[in-house]
Amino acid sequence: MNNQIIIARIPQAFAPLLTEHHRIKFYYGGRGGGKSYAFADSLLLKGRMQKLLIACLREVQDSIKDSVYRLLCDRIAFYSLNDYRIQESKIENKITGTQFIFKGLRDQDIQKIKSLEGVDIAWIEEGQSISKKSWDILAPTIRKDGSEIWISMNREEENDPLWVLLAANPDERTLVRQVNYNDNPFCPEELKLQAEKCRLKNPDDYLHIWLGQPLAQGAAKLIAPKIVRQAFTVKMAATDSPLIIGLDIARFGDDYTVFCFRRGRWCQKFITLKKQDVVSIADYCQGIITDYAPARVFLDAGGIGGGVYDILAARGFRDIIRAVNFGSKAIMEERYANRRAEMWANAAAWLNQELPVQIPPDEELLSELCCVNKKYDTRGRLLLESKDEVKKKLGRSPDKADAFVLTFAEPVYDCGRTRTFGKSGQIAIEDMFAEIRDNGKW
Ligand SMILES: Nc1ncnc2c1ncn2[C@@H]1O[C@H](COP(=O)(O)OP(=O)(O)OP(=O)(O)O)[C@@H](O)[C@H]1O
Ligand SMILES: [Mg+2]
Repeated sequence: MNNQIIIARIPQAFAPLLTEHHRIKFYYGGRGGGKSYAFADSLLLKGRMQKLLIACLREVQDSIKDSVYRLLCDRIAFYSLNDYRIQESKIENKITGTQFIFKGLRDQDIQKIKSLEGVDIAWIEEGQSISKKSWDILAPTIRKDGSEIWISMNREEENDPLWVLLAANPDERTLVRQVNYNDNPFCPEELKLQAEKCRLKNPDDYLHIWLGQPLAQGAAKLIAPKIVRQAFTVKMAATDSPLIIGLDIARFGDDYTVFCFRRGRWCQKFITLKKQDVVSIADYCQGIITDYAPARVFLDAGGIGGGVYDILAARGFRDIIRAVNFGSKAIMEERYANRRAEMWANAAAWLNQELPVQIPPDEELLSELCCVNKKYDTRGRLLLESKDEVKKKLGRSPDKADAFVLTFAEPVYDCGRTRTFGKSGQIAIEDMFAEIRDNGKW
């Protein structure tokens, strides 16, 4: 395959990748800009011309499947580059000796990262996820004379660490370029249609998703879509953690009653009922308690939830069910403006933890979880935007997400009994939450 053909398929905006030397090449923009493809093609091409050690890096890489390995393999196949040999964990050029290696930065410490000292080009994909800590370890490691760091990213927030450190005020050794789908001559029609639909329906989302602008300040999302998507992949086959059920009860309009089943780091399923009356929801819940023997059922006490609680309490389930009032004082009052913000923050922490978590792959759940913006009250405590605002954006009530966050109302221990906590208790609430988070025992 003639190298000219590869060059011809690299959009003009990416030409400096091949023709110019910069310590840092920083490309950012929205979906479909062609960043990943252009980086992959340019690196494959460069690796055919001279021997290079190329490190493909991202913040988290649980398996090579998370990396750009697949994309590089596809591009090798597309161009029939028979001089590349694809191995299980690396890609090699048989003629020049170029090697592509793949690593997650979060797992690297000063010792492990030494293997990157001979790198000629480091490609950081999804630069928006790179922490300052990872960057501070990486930057001095890529130390070979003439080495380059290529970064591709879709900006998330105004102060994404790499944006602030490198691109906001670039020095003379840094090339910063913005590329969007309309700069990509190979952008599929389907993507252009999706972008246009978004532009008409939700201009703010369009600016962020398609034109690569950060989320408006003060409107940062509590939960990022990519974290939820990561939790979609199947990782767990069994767990002995106690079953906790979150029950979000229909209030008015089109709302649904939703049961969410979670065991430790595995959110297993949802059961959705079309709006029902107090007694039939209580009956249904009783059936679930009998069949599944949950350690706790946390139910939304607002609306008719109080009635459901009363019925179940009268029927002898007082030990298992807990009524949660979203608007009431948080357990960690100094940090959260109310119970709702606290539960959502705990759910976000659960999704963001380093240990693997799993939830059912459900796009409805994803849009509900990722719709909620952070806000703070005058005391600097997390508040979240109101449920009415969320409903307006979603066009419905986030019933599944609320059932899910209810499973984080209080920590439940393996013995199935909540421990005493608070000022009169044995351990401070802060410590209790930290202990549970650190042990991954949500
Ligand atoms: N050189 C190319 N040849 C053929 N198709 C291409 C090429 N470059 C880009 N594309 C098409 O454009 C799409 C978007 O490109 P790419 O995935 O590289 O964008 P991106 O900027 O990395 O954005 P994101 O991954 O966030 O969507 C690809 O899925 C592919 O269909
Ligand atoms: Mg990409």
